[in-house]
Amino acid sequence: MEYMGAHLAFKSRWHKTDEELCRHSMSFILHKAIRNDFFQSYLYLLERLPLVKLYALTSEVINGEMQFYARAKHFYKEVPASEEGMMGDFIELSNTDIESSREFLKNFVGGPGKAGTDFALDCGSGIGRVSKHVLLPLFKHVELVDMMDVFLTEAQNYLQGQGEKVDMYYCCSLQEFTPTPRKYDVIWIQWVSGNLTDKDLLGFFIRCQDGLKENGIIILKDNVAREGCVLDPLDSSVIRDLNILSSLIEKSGLSIVRREKQEGFPEQCVPVWMIAMQKNPIHMRNGML
Ligand SMILES: C[S@@+](CC[C@H](N)C(=O)[O-])C[C@H]1O[C@@H](n2cnc3c(N)ncnc32)[C@H](O)[C@@H]1O
Repeated sequence: MEYMGAHLAFKSRWHKTDEELCRHSMSFILHKAIRNDFFQSYLYLLERLPLVKLYALTSEVINGEMQFYARAKHFYKEVPASEEGMMGDFIELSNTDIESSREFLKNFVGGPGKAGTDFALDCGSGIGRVSKHVLLPLFKHVELVDMMDVFLTEAQNYLQGQGEKVDMYYCCSLQEFTPTPRKYDVIWIQWVSGNLTDKDLLGFFIRCQDGLKENGIIILKDNVAREGCVLDPLDSSVIRDLNILSSLIEKSGLSIVRREKQEGFPEQCVPVWMIAMQKNPIHMRNGML
């Protein structure tokens, strides 16, 4: 924790400079730019996290609340609890998305050495669009987790008919959620990973990994940047490129079993990828291989 002392020492000096420098002067702007660059490089060296470019934007705390998360909650309060709401402006892509997800999932479920069909967890489920069309037709039990209780309440109507297979609706932010250890055959994480900071996504991957049964699989489906990471200030999320995602996955101790680009989406859309991940065998996790 030595670095924390250094960090705080710098922070107190910066505060003083902020007070003393004229906020509109060039030196103030320059000072801020240098300070941000310094902080980003510092964190990169310290934590080896790739999202440092956006650190200044994702780390702001006001009244003890991380603004990156507060802004996302604010955004989703205005989103209708419907398939349209879950798909943003792209409801017409929902069927293509679902079809590809089903096909992708088939590769890993049912059959010797593959994941079982007892329990699936739908993370950032919203009203349960993925649960309804992809998970419930296949699994005996499905659980949903989302930070917005209005979406989970609507899920109980939306999933009618299949609702008896839904065991739990967890109203919880993923950065605070821990899946029950060794419970799930499949953990599905769609269009929500960008709402977590690098650090929280890494932690979440680690906890999901512990939530897997033998041969269990985690499927991440999300927008993927062509290069680097991009902040979407509208819903307070980041879009990471494949290298960044892969390095977070690797760092969590998971390995990528297969990755596939979503076909059939318009060219002008941000590319969407499906990434299947599995636990490394114990000896690999300990770095013995
Ligand atoms: C774009 S919607 C996608 C919903 C669903 N995965 C689907 O594909 O239809 C994103 C969902 O993630 C949820 N969400 C955003 N940030 C979250 C967080 N930090 N923890 C848990 N849920 C979150 C939102 O409430 C919303 O339901």
